[in-house]
This record gives sequence, C-alpha cells and structure tokens, in this order.
Amino acid sequence: MSSKNYVLILDFGSQYTKLIARRVRELGVFSEIVPFAKGYEKARKERPLGIVFSGGPSSVYAENAPTVNPDIVSMGIPILGICYGLQLLAFLSGIRVNPASEREYGLAILEKKVFSPLLKGVGNHNKVWMSHGDKILDLPPDFSVTACTANCEYTVIESSGRGLYGVQFHPEVVHSEGGNILLKNFVFDICQGTADWSMKGFVEEETMRLKQLIGDKRVILGLSGGVDSTVLALLLHKAIGDKLFPVFVDTGLLRKHEFSDLMLSFQKKLGLNVKGVDASSLFLGRLKGVKSPERKRKIIGKTFIDVFMQVEEEHGPFQFFAQGTLYPDVIESVSVNGPSVTIKSHHNVGGLPKRLNWKLLEPFRELFKDEVRLIGRELGLDEEFISRHPFPGPGLAVRILGDVNPEKIATLQEADHILISELKRQGLYDKTWQAFVVLLPVKSVGVMGDIRTYQNAVVIRMVESVDGMTADWFWAPHAFLQSVANRMVNEVKGINRVTYDITSKPPGTIEWE
Ligand code: XMP
Repeated sequence: MSSKNYVLILDFGSQYTKLIARRVRELGVFSEIVPFAKGYEKARKERPLGIVFSGGPSSVYAENAPTVNPDIVSMGIPILGICYGLQLLAFLSGIRVNPASEREYGLAILEKKVFSPLLKGVGNHNKVWMSHGDKILDLPPDFSVTACTANCEYTVIESSGRGLYGVQFHPEVVHSEGGNILLKNFVFDICQGTADWSMKGFVEEETMRLKQLIGDKRVILGLSGGVDSTVLALLLHKAIGDKLFPVFVDTGLLRKHEFSDLMLSFQKKLGLNVKGVDASSLFLGRLKGVKSPERKRKIIGKTFIDVFMQVEEEHGPFQFFAQGTLYPDVIESVSVNGPSVTIKSHHNVGGLPKRLNWKLLEPFRELFKDEVRLIGRELGLDEEFISRHPFPGPGLAVRILGDVNPEKIATLQEADHILISELKRQGLYDKTWQAFVVLLPVKSVGVMGDIRTYQNAVVIRMVESVDGMTADWFWAPHAFLQSVANRMVNEVKGINRVTYDITSKPPGTIEWE
C-alpha cells in the first residue's frame, strides 16, 4: 500500500464510524480511523487520498464540541462530511447550524436535484437513513445543494471545485439505499483511489508486523472457542510459531461438551498446542448468589485475568497478552474516541491491570466479525469452524438471568444443545447469526400427564445480523419452533414453558444481559 492510497476517517463519536471504514475497505481501499483531534496533523503529514468526517452525537455549538483545524478544508484533499460531519463542514465555512424543529430518525426519501459526481448512479427517491437533531439553515459560500428530503432542504451539498461534499444521512448503514454507490463515487471518482487492499493483504501485513513487534518474546492468548480468538491464534501461530502460548479456560459456563470437543479440535485439526485449564469451581464460586448482569460480567472478567496470572506463574514469563477483540466489542463497551455510551462491559476489553507487565495485542480491534471470518478462510480454517455462531466470553452466565448455579447451568446446557442440534439437523444453523436459549428466573404452572408442574420458563433467541451491531429476530419456521419446544419440555428436567424472543437490536441487545 502506498502511503497515500488510503482514506482517513476522522471520528467525531458516531456509533457508525467503524462502518464507514469497513465500507471503504470493502471497496478494496484501505481506510484508517483517527480521533478527530489528531486528524489535521495526520492529514498534513500523510496526505491521504480523501478524508471523511464521521457523524457524532454533539451539536457543533455545544461547549467542547469536537472540531478540527479549519485549514483542513483548504489542503486540496477531498472531504466527505457525514451528518455531524456535514454540519461541521458548514460550520467551518461560517454557516448557521440550528437545532432542527423536529429531530429526524429513520428513513427519509432522497430527492435528487441536479447532477452530482457524488450521487452518480444513486437512484432518485431512494430511502436513506437519517439520524440527526441539528441541520444547516444556509448553504456555505461556494456550495450548492444536490439533493434534499422532505424535512431537510440541504441533505446533500457540495463544493465540487474544492472537493468538499456533505451528506446529512448515513450512507454507511445498510438501510440507506445506494449508500455504497455514493461511497464508491467518493473513493474512486472523487478521491481517485485504487482498489489494492484485501484480507490477503491484511494477513500478510499483520503477520510481518506481529513478527517484528513480538520478536523473540512470548505471547499468552485466551481462546474462547469462538471464531475470533481461534483465527487470532492461527495468525499468531503463523507469525511467531511456538512463542505463542494459547490457553483455553473451562469456566464451567460453556456449552455442553464444548470444552472437551474444542480441546480436541484445537490440537488435532488446527495443530495448536493449547493449554486447557479447568477453572470452573473458581468461576462458579465467585458468581454464587450474584444477580446483577454487570457484576457478573465484571467478576468473570477479573477471574479470567486471575486464571491467566496463575498460568503465567506456572508457564511464564509472557510479555504480550493477545485477545480477539472486535470493533463492536469496543464500541459497545467503552468510549474510545468520542462520546459513545457504554452498553455492556465485555470481559475482553477494558485493559489489563497495571501490575501485569503484559502488553495488550488486539490485531482485530478495528475489524468486524465477517472480516475476521474472511481472514480465517485465508488461513485455511475449515468452514465448520468459520461458520460457528459467536459465543460471548461470559458464556452461559449472561444467559441465566439472576444468579448462576451448577443446576441451572446443566438445565440450560441441555436446552441449548437441543436448539443447536435441531438447527443443524434441519439445515437452519447457517441461516442464523446466533441462536441460543435464555433461562428465566420465572416459574409458571403447567400440566404434564395429568400432573401439575411448576417449573422454569426459557426463551429461544435467534437472530440474523451482518456484524452484531444491529440484528433482526429470525423468522423461524413454526414447525421448527414446535419441534424444539416439544423436545425441550419433554427432555429437559425443570423446563415446562418455551417462549420465542421477537425483539430486534436495537432496541434490544442480542444477549439478555
Ligand atoms: P449484544 O448482546 O451486545 O451482543 O447485542 C453483540 C454480540 O457480542 C456478543 N457478546 C460478547 N462477546 N464478550 C464477547 O466476546 C462479551 O462479553 C460479550 N457480550 C456479548 C454477543 O454474543 C453477540 O454476538
């Protein structure tokens, strides 16, 4: 990659910033995100092909509103401002941005007005995804308006002579029709990008980078059984061979037979020399009686660290600690570059305690799961592993609402096993992004063979998603639900009622805790 052939994205705090980067990379052009405050210096030094100002939750008039050195607009580098980014472009040009009388969230119809290189091939009357409070009230000098919506006069604006473009909607989200075409026009026609970036390139570059970075030091890696940490183990193994020390911890919160099955696969199929650690009593002991979802997550996160420290005492020293953290884990857990709010504490982020001297390695921190799956394919991982559903680090603990104990875990494992094996048997496993059962702390009355029962209810959760950031509940065939519910009630002791979750994300999250 020539140092210039990339698109620089300035992050102003939108939840969608990483989606912009990903869309650009899907077009075969590398893109990099930097916090807004570092954007001007980086652009000046590296002169990227183009710059994107992301959206963000602020108002440009707010105190401490994120901004950028105004000289950035006169560097001769094309800029695309999205949502807040558009308002900032206008604001930097001295234009009034006012709170809109009606906030606009959701779909709007785009009316194209005149030809624009940015909108070439984007259909007229396309549905686009709006999510903003403020809007601009005047056109900045030298700008013209190329499209509008019913509620927003200046939806797409440009000063094409200066290479400045602004869109009020979010072209990066899948719900915006033609969003990809717009980004493609920006990247190739306006910025003159060349498609020379791919996952193959990522694997080659990362292997070299990791090799150089790690040198002859040693890396401890936590395998979760999911595709991310497995792919990371393969990548690191390729880069540093047996200087990698992969550890798979039995938390007692895994699926039925998961620990033994996976240990076998890691060793026999993937050639990874994995250290298995049974820490189930430690995890379950610490979780005893704990009901709060966040407490549970925190305890599990800390216990993982304690287990790894124990491994260090026995097998160390290690200088690096590797994790398969993905971008959605980061954005939903901490405010990285801007004011995005914390939704859940993922055990795999939040940093390591200071007293540990390990440096954190998170090569997938900028990536989405389907990108990691592509890397897995590059590294020769078989399809069965690649298509495994994601499984959260805190495991079944976040699928047992309320406190966790061995009996509840066993019940849930049985129900979950029925769901997953039926999905596979009936050819539906690969049609869902994730499918699992949640055990509720709710008992209800039933009747089985003339006998009154008073047992637990479970929820089946099945979702479709592209990246875990948003999800739709899965339209499961009725016959499938019927067969699974029948089996659960008949075969799993302690369950007498089965329900189906029809909540999308948002407003729900995928996991219940
Ligand atoms: P939510 O529930 O936040 O989940 O909509 C989004 C995706 O992330 C997974 N998830 C986790 N993965 N550690 C992980 O490695 C965690 O703490 C964690 N919490 C949720 C979840 O299963 C879904 O795929």
